[in-house]
Amino acid sequence: MPGPGEVTLRQTAIGFNFIDVYQRKGVYPLPLPTGLGFEAAGVIEALGEGVSGWSPGERVAYMNAGVGAYADRRNVPADKLVRLPDNVSDEAAATLLFKGMTAQYLLRKTHRVEPGDLLLVHSAAGGVGQILTRWATALGATVIGTTGSPQKRDAALAAGCQAVIDLNDPAWPEAFIEAAGGRKARVVYDAIGKDTLIQSLDCAAPFGLVVSYGAASGKAPAIEPELLNKKGCLFLTRPSIFPHNADPATFRANAADFFDAVAKGHVAVEIGARFSLDDIVAVHEAAEARRVNGAILITP
Ligand SMILES: NC(=O)c1ccc[n+]([C@@H]2O[C@H](COP(=O)([O-])OP(=O)(O)OC[C@H]3O[C@@H](n4cnc5c(N)ncnc54)[C@H](OP(=O)(O)O)[C@@H]3O)[C@@H](O)[C@H]2O)c1
Repeated sequence: MPGPGEVTLRQTAIGFNFIDVYQRKGVYPLPLPTGLGFEAAGVIEALGEGVSGWSPGERVAYMNAGVGAYADRRNVPADKLVRLPDNVSDEAAATLLFKGMTAQYLLRKTHRVEPGDLLLVHSAAGGVGQILTRWATALGATVIGTTGSPQKRDAALAAGCQAVIDLNDPAWPEAFIEAAGGRKARVVYDAIGKDTLIQSLDCAAPFGLVVSYGAASGKAPAIEPELLNKKGCLFLTRPSIFPHNADPATFRANAADFFDAVAKGHVAVEIGARFSLDDIVAVHEAAEARRVNGAILITP
Protein backbone atom coordinates (compact mmCIF):
# COMPACT_ATOMS: atom_id res chain seq x y z
CA MET A 1 0.00 0.00 0.00
CA PRO A 2 1.31 3.49 -0.80
CA GLY A 3 1.78 5.80 2.18
CA PRO A 4 0.48 9.39 2.33
CA GLY A 5 1.83 11.37 -0.63
CA GLU A 6 3.07 8.21 -2.38
CA VAL A 7 2.05 6.14 -5.40
CA THR A 8 2.65 2.43 -6.00
CA LEU A 9 4.45 1.73 -9.28
CA ARG A 10 4.64 -1.49 -11.28
CA GLN A 11 8.13 -1.04 -12.67
CA THR A 12 8.79 -2.01 -16.29
CA ALA A 13 12.39 -0.81 -16.81
CA ILE A 14 15.19 0.03 -14.36
CA GLY A 15 18.26 2.13 -15.09
CA PHE A 16 21.75 1.30 -13.84
CA ASN A 17 23.97 4.21 -12.83
CA PHE A 18 27.59 4.14 -11.69
CA ILE A 19 26.56 5.66 -8.36
CA ASP A 20 24.96 2.25 -7.61
CA VAL A 21 28.50 0.82 -7.51
CA TYR A 22 29.75 3.55 -5.15
CA GLN A 23 26.80 2.87 -2.84
CA ARG A 24 27.17 -0.93 -2.95
CA LYS A 25 30.86 -0.61 -2.07
CA GLY A 26 30.29 1.95 0.68
CA VAL A 27 32.19 4.74 -1.10
CA TYR A 28 28.98 6.71 -0.56
CA PRO A 29 27.80 4.96 2.64
CA LEU A 30 24.12 4.14 3.18
CA PRO A 31 22.42 3.06 6.41
CA LEU A 32 22.01 -0.75 6.27
CA PRO A 33 20.01 -2.73 5.32
CA THR A 34 19.30 -0.90 2.09
CA GLY A 35 18.04 -1.33 -1.43
CA LEU A 36 19.95 0.09 -4.37
CA GLY A 37 19.15 1.93 -7.59
CA PHE A 38 17.92 5.44 -8.30
CA GLU A 39 16.01 5.23 -11.55
CA ALA A 40 13.08 3.37 -13.09
CA ALA A 41 10.03 3.74 -15.30
CA GLY A 42 6.67 2.08 -14.84
CA VAL A 43 2.91 2.36 -14.49
CA ILE A 44 1.01 3.83 -11.54
CA GLU A 45 -1.07 1.15 -9.82
CA ALA A 46 -2.39 2.92 -6.71
CA LEU A 47 -2.49 6.39 -5.14
CA GLY A 48 -1.82 7.09 -1.46
CA GLU A 49 -3.73 9.52 0.72
CA GLY A 50 -3.46 13.17 -0.39
CA VAL A 51 -2.09 12.42 -3.87
CA SER A 52 -3.76 14.44 -6.61
CA GLY A 53 -2.90 15.11 -10.25
CA TRP A 54 -1.95 11.49 -10.96
CA SER A 55 -4.07 8.52 -12.10
CA PRO A 56 -3.67 4.74 -12.06
CA GLY A 57 -2.45 3.53 -15.47
CA GLU A 58 -0.24 6.58 -16.18
CA ARG A 59 3.31 5.95 -17.47
CA VAL A 60 5.90 7.67 -15.28
CA ALA A 61 9.56 7.62 -14.31
CA TYR A 62 11.74 8.88 -11.45
CA MET A 63 15.42 9.39 -10.73
CA ASN A 64 15.70 11.04 -7.30
CA ALA A 65 13.25 9.23 -5.05
CA GLY A 66 15.92 7.67 -2.82
CA VAL A 67 17.53 4.27 -3.27
CA GLY A 68 15.44 1.17 -3.95
CA ALA A 69 14.81 1.14 -7.71
CA TYR A 70 16.01 -2.48 -8.03
CA ALA A 71 12.46 -3.81 -7.58
CA ASP A 72 9.44 -4.93 -9.59
CA ARG A 73 7.03 -2.81 -7.52
CA ARG A 74 7.79 0.22 -5.41
CA ASN A 75 6.16 3.09 -3.49
CA VAL A 76 7.52 6.47 -4.58
CA PRO A 77 6.70 10.02 -3.41
CA ALA A 78 4.39 11.50 -6.07
CA ASP A 79 6.37 14.77 -6.22
CA LYS A 80 9.40 12.82 -7.50
CA LEU A 81 7.57 11.52 -10.60
CA VAL A 82 7.72 12.75 -14.17
CA ARG A 83 4.99 11.90 -16.68
CA LEU A 84 6.37 10.17 -19.78
CA PRO A 85 5.52 11.74 -23.12
CA ASP A 86 4.41 9.37 -25.94
CA ASN A 87 7.77 9.83 -27.71
CA VAL A 88 9.71 8.42 -24.72
CA SER A 89 9.45 4.64 -24.16
CA ASP A 90 9.79 3.15 -20.70
CA GLU A 91 13.19 1.73 -21.70
CA ALA A 92 14.41 5.09 -22.97
CA ALA A 93 13.22 6.80 -19.78
CA ALA A 94 14.98 4.28 -17.55
CA THR A 95 18.27 4.73 -19.38
CA LEU A 96 18.07 8.47 -19.99
CA LEU A 97 16.49 10.23 -17.04
CA PHE A 98 19.22 10.11 -14.36
CA LYS A 99 22.04 10.54 -16.87
CA GLY A 100 20.18 13.12 -18.94
CA MET A 101 19.23 15.20 -15.91
CA THR A 102 22.91 15.09 -14.97
CA ALA A 103 23.85 16.42 -18.41
CA GLN A 104 21.06 19.01 -18.06
CA TYR A 105 22.59 20.73 -15.03
CA LEU A 106 26.19 20.21 -16.25
CA LEU A 107 25.49 21.93 -19.59
CA ARG A 108 22.92 24.52 -18.47
CA LYS A 109 23.91 25.46 -14.92
CA THR A 110 27.41 24.36 -13.92
CA HIS A 111 28.43 26.04 -17.16
CA ARG A 112 25.92 27.40 -19.68
CA VAL A 113 27.39 25.98 -22.88
CA GLU A 114 27.74 28.45 -25.75
CA PRO A 115 28.35 27.84 -29.44
CA GLY A 116 32.10 27.65 -30.04
CA ASP A 117 32.99 26.34 -26.55
CA LEU A 118 35.68 23.65 -26.59
CA LEU A 119 34.86 20.92 -24.07
CA LEU A 120 36.83 17.91 -22.88
CA VAL A 121 34.46 15.08 -21.89
CA HIS A 122 36.02 12.07 -20.17
CA SER A 123 34.44 8.61 -20.61
CA ALA A 124 32.67 9.93 -23.71
CA ALA A 125 31.48 6.43 -24.66
CA GLY A 126 29.84 5.92 -21.23
CA GLY A 127 26.26 6.64 -20.22
CA VAL A 128 26.52 10.27 -19.08
CA GLY A 129 29.46 10.78 -21.47
CA GLN A 130 27.44 9.98 -24.62
CA ILE A 131 24.57 12.21 -23.55
CA LEU A 132 26.84 15.10 -22.54
CA THR A 133 28.65 14.85 -25.87
CA ARG A 134 25.50 14.69 -28.01
CA TRP A 135 23.70 17.50 -26.18
CA ALA A 136 26.76 19.80 -26.02
CA THR A 137 27.37 19.28 -29.73
CA ALA A 138 23.75 20.17 -30.44
CA LEU A 139 24.29 23.40 -28.46
CA GLY A 140 27.15 24.28 -30.80
CA ALA A 141 30.13 23.21 -28.69
CA THR A 142 33.09 21.24 -29.97
CA VAL A 143 33.66 18.12 -27.88
CA ILE A 144 36.85 16.10 -27.63
CA GLY A 145 36.34 12.90 -25.65
CA THR A 146 38.46 10.34 -23.86
CA THR A 147 37.91 6.60 -23.53
CA GLY A 148 39.61 3.90 -21.51
CA SER A 149 40.07 1.60 -24.51
CA PRO A 150 40.31 1.95 -28.30
CA GLN A 151 37.23 -0.31 -28.66
CA LYS A 152 35.08 2.52 -27.26
CA ARG A 153 36.34 5.06 -29.78
CA ASP A 154 33.59 4.50 -32.36
CA ALA A 155 30.84 4.94 -29.77
CA ALA A 156 32.37 8.26 -28.66
CA LEU A 157 32.69 9.45 -32.27
CA ALA A 158 29.08 8.41 -32.98
CA ALA A 159 27.96 10.52 -30.01
CA GLY A 160 29.55 13.57 -31.65
CA CYS A 161 33.16 13.81 -30.48
CA GLN A 162 35.39 15.61 -32.95
CA ALA A 163 38.35 13.53 -31.75
CA VAL A 164 38.82 10.80 -29.17
CA ILE A 165 41.88 10.48 -26.92
CA ASP A 166 42.98 7.11 -25.53
CA LEU A 167 43.61 7.41 -21.77
CA ASN A 168 46.14 4.56 -21.94
CA ASP A 169 48.56 7.03 -23.50
CA PRO A 170 50.38 8.59 -20.49
CA ALA A 171 50.73 11.79 -22.54
CA TRP A 172 46.95 12.03 -23.06
CA PRO A 173 46.74 15.73 -21.99
CA GLU A 174 49.27 16.64 -24.73
CA ALA A 175 47.35 14.44 -27.19
CA PHE A 176 44.17 16.34 -26.28
CA ILE A 177 45.80 19.76 -26.86
CA GLU A 178 47.24 18.56 -30.17
CA ALA A 179 43.83 17.23 -31.29
CA ALA A 180 42.35 20.62 -30.35
CA GLY A 181 44.81 22.43 -32.61
CA GLY A 182 46.80 23.84 -29.69
CA ARG A 183 43.78 25.11 -27.73
CA LYS A 184 42.76 24.10 -24.22
CA ALA A 185 39.21 23.47 -23.01
CA ARG A 186 36.73 26.05 -21.76
CA VAL A 187 35.35 23.24 -19.56
CA VAL A 188 36.70 19.81 -18.60
CA TYR A 189 34.04 17.30 -17.45
CA ASP A 190 35.81 14.66 -15.32
CA ALA A 191 33.91 11.86 -13.53
CA ILE A 192 36.91 9.51 -13.39
CA GLY A 193 38.53 11.22 -10.39
CA LYS A 194 41.68 9.62 -8.98
CA ASP A 195 43.31 8.60 -12.28
CA THR A 196 42.68 11.82 -14.22
CA LEU A 197 41.79 14.91 -12.19
CA ILE A 198 45.28 16.40 -11.75
CA GLN A 199 46.07 16.01 -15.46
CA SER A 200 42.62 17.38 -16.32
CA LEU A 201 43.80 20.70 -14.83
CA ASP A 202 46.43 20.83 -17.60
CA CYS A 203 43.71 20.61 -20.24
CA ALA A 204 41.72 23.67 -19.12
CA ALA A 205 42.30 27.09 -20.70
CA PRO A 206 43.18 30.05 -18.42
CA PHE A 207 40.12 30.94 -16.30
CA GLY A 208 38.56 27.70 -17.49
CA LEU A 209 36.34 25.40 -15.44
CA VAL A 210 37.16 21.87 -14.28
CA VAL A 211 34.07 19.93 -13.22
CA SER A 212 34.80 16.94 -10.99
CA TYR A 213 31.43 15.19 -10.93
CA GLY A 214 32.36 11.58 -10.14
CA ALA A 215 35.08 9.18 -9.10
CA ALA A 216 34.84 6.00 -11.19
CA SER A 217 38.54 5.21 -10.63
CA GLY A 218 38.57 6.23 -6.96
CA LYS A 219 38.34 9.36 -4.85
CA ALA A 220 39.70 12.49 -6.55
CA PRO A 221 42.84 13.92 -4.91
CA ALA A 222 42.75 16.96 -2.62
CA ILE A 223 43.74 20.09 -4.54
CA GLU A 224 45.37 23.16 -2.99
CA PRO A 225 43.81 26.44 -4.20
CA GLU A 226 47.32 27.64 -5.15
CA LEU A 227 47.53 24.86 -7.75
CA LEU A 228 44.50 26.37 -9.52
CA ASN A 229 46.38 29.67 -9.69
CA LYS A 230 49.47 27.99 -11.18
CA LYS A 231 47.42 26.12 -13.77
CA GLY A 232 45.80 29.33 -15.07
CA CYS A 233 43.45 30.80 -12.44
CA LEU A 234 41.12 27.86 -12.96
CA PHE A 235 37.71 27.26 -11.41
CA LEU A 236 37.10 23.83 -9.87
CA THR A 237 33.68 22.55 -8.82
CA ARG A 238 32.23 19.28 -7.51
CA PRO A 239 28.48 19.34 -8.29
CA SER A 240 25.73 16.73 -7.81
CA ILE A 241 22.38 16.00 -9.45
CA PHE A 242 20.49 15.82 -6.14
CA PRO A 243 20.73 19.43 -4.86
CA HIS A 244 20.03 20.60 -8.41
CA ASN A 245 16.68 18.79 -8.29
CA ALA A 246 15.76 18.89 -4.59
CA ASP A 247 13.12 21.61 -4.95
CA PRO A 248 10.02 20.12 -6.71
CA ALA A 249 9.41 23.20 -8.91
CA THR A 250 13.06 23.31 -10.02
CA PHE A 251 12.98 19.54 -10.64
CA ARG A 252 9.91 19.95 -12.91
CA ALA A 253 11.56 22.86 -14.81
CA ASN A 254 14.78 20.86 -15.29
CA ALA A 255 12.75 17.83 -16.44
CA ALA A 256 10.86 20.00 -18.96
CA ASP A 257 14.21 21.23 -20.35
CA PHE A 258 15.41 17.60 -20.53
CA PHE A 259 12.25 16.34 -22.33
CA ASP A 260 12.47 19.27 -24.75
CA ALA A 261 16.03 18.21 -25.61
CA VAL A 262 14.86 14.60 -26.02
CA ALA A 263 12.10 15.73 -28.40
CA LYS A 264 14.64 17.67 -30.47
CA GLY A 265 16.86 14.58 -30.70
CA HIS A 266 19.63 16.20 -28.62
CA VAL A 267 19.57 13.54 -25.91
CA ALA A 268 20.10 9.88 -26.71
CA VAL A 269 22.24 7.03 -25.49
CA GLU A 270 23.01 3.64 -26.93
CA ILE A 271 21.74 0.75 -24.76
CA GLY A 272 25.03 -1.11 -24.46
CA ALA A 273 23.80 -4.08 -22.41
CA ARG A 274 20.55 -5.56 -21.11
CA PHE A 275 20.16 -7.70 -18.01
CA SER A 276 17.35 -9.22 -15.99
CA LEU A 277 17.02 -7.95 -12.41
CA ASP A 278 17.84 -11.55 -11.37
CA ASP A 279 21.33 -10.99 -12.88
CA ILE A 280 22.09 -7.83 -10.93
CA VAL A 281 25.52 -9.13 -9.87
CA ALA A 282 26.50 -9.39 -13.55
CA VAL A 283 25.35 -5.78 -14.08
CA HIS A 284 27.78 -4.49 -11.46
CA GLU A 285 30.59 -6.74 -12.71
CA ALA A 286 30.19 -5.47 -16.28
CA ALA A 287 30.14 -1.83 -15.15
CA GLU A 288 33.19 -2.17 -12.92
CA ALA A 289 35.11 -3.97 -15.68
CA ARG A 290 34.39 -0.99 -18.01
CA ARG A 291 32.97 -3.44 -20.55
CA VAL A 292 29.85 -1.53 -21.59
CA ASN A 293 29.43 1.31 -24.10
CA GLY A 294 26.48 3.54 -23.28
CA ALA A 295 23.75 2.63 -20.81
CA ILE A 296 22.78 -0.61 -19.06
CA LEU A 297 19.08 -1.50 -18.96
CA ILE A 298 17.66 -3.80 -16.27
CA THR A 299 14.32 -5.56 -16.71
CA PRO A 300 12.37 -6.55 -13.58
N1 LIG B 1 27.71 14.23 -9.86
C1 LIG B 1 26.60 13.84 -10.44
O1 LIG B 1 25.55 14.49 -10.37
C2 LIG B 1 26.61 12.58 -11.26
C3 LIG B 1 25.42 12.08 -11.79
C4 LIG B 1 25.47 10.96 -12.61
C5 LIG B 1 26.68 10.32 -12.86
N2 LIG B 1 27.81 10.83 -12.28
C6 LIG B 1 29.12 10.21 -12.55
O2 LIG B 1 29.30 10.16 -13.94
C7 LIG B 1 30.11 9.03 -14.27
C8 LIG B 1 29.42 8.27 -15.37
O3 LIG B 1 28.25 7.65 -14.85
P1 LIG B 1 27.49 6.53 -15.69
O4 LIG B 1 26.46 5.95 -14.81
O5 LIG B 1 27.10 7.09 -17.00
O6 LIG B 1 28.63 5.42 -15.88
P2 LIG B 1 29.49 5.02 -17.18
O7 LIG B 1 30.11 6.24 -17.77
O8 LIG B 1 28.65 4.24 -18.09
O9 LIG B 1 30.60 4.14 -16.51
C9 LIG B 1 31.70 4.73 -15.86
C10 LIG B 1 32.85 4.97 -16.82
O10 LIG B 1 33.96 5.44 -16.09
C11 LIG B 1 35.14 5.11 -16.78
N3 LIG B 1 36.16 4.62 -15.84
C12 LIG B 1 37.38 5.14 -15.71
N4 LIG B 1 38.05 4.49 -14.76
C13 LIG B 1 37.26 3.53 -14.31
C14 LIG B 1 37.43 2.51 -13.34
N5 LIG B 1 38.58 2.36 -12.64
N6 LIG B 1 36.40 1.66 -13.13
C15 LIG B 1 35.25 1.79 -13.81
N7 LIG B 1 35.03 2.76 -14.73
C16 LIG B 1 36.03 3.60 -14.99
C17 LIG B 1 34.76 4.03 -17.81
O11 LIG B 1 34.89 4.61 -19.12
P3 LIG B 1 36.26 4.46 -19.92
O12 LIG B 1 36.63 3.02 -19.82
O13 LIG B 1 35.97 4.89 -21.30
O14 LIG B 1 37.25 5.38 -19.23
C18 LIG B 1 33.31 3.72 -17.52
O15 LIG B 1 32.61 3.45 -18.69
C19 LIG B 1 30.32 8.24 -12.98
O16 LIG B 1 31.55 8.57 -12.40
C20 LIG B 1 29.19 8.75 -12.10
O17 LIG B 1 29.45 8.65 -10.74
C21 LIG B 1 27.80 11.93 -11.50
